[in-house]
Amino acid sequence: MGEEMGFYNSIFKEHFTHPRNMGEMENPDGMGEAQNPVCGDTMRLFIKVEEGRISDARFLTYGCSAAIASSSITTELIKGKTLEEALAISDHMVAEALGGLPPTKIHCSVLAEKAIQAAVLDFQKKTLASSPSPPETES
Ligand code: FES
Repeated sequence: MGEEMGFYNSIFKEHFTHPRNMGEMENPDGMGEAQNPVCGDTMRLFIKVEEGRISDARFLTYGCSAAIASSSITTELIKGKTLEEALAISDHMVAEALGGLPPTKIHCSVLAEKAIQAAVLDFQKKTLASSPSPPETES
């Protein structure tokens, strides 16, 4: 692990040591991936959407403890939210939900914000692609 766990609070430690909703999702309605270009850490977020709300969320993250804790709490934050509400979740909100992150780890929560945006966009693209095109009108 190599990181100083002493800096982190109990919420952070709980989500890092017992991540919620970890693992791949079968047939997600949307999947978003985000990568930190500096460290290479990657988060993949899967969502199910029912009647405009995120009904389920899972994640796969290859990264540091802050990236894993951010991923875990993000799945809890977005469940039950409308797509618009989910899109409004910022990296700062993720960090705040974890009880704060050390300044050097704030960028890790950015992965979560970007993954949410990518997953919602993926859902919207799939929904658009599967919706019937409007009938052609003759002029
Ligand atoms: Fe790379 Fe945390 S160090 S996301």
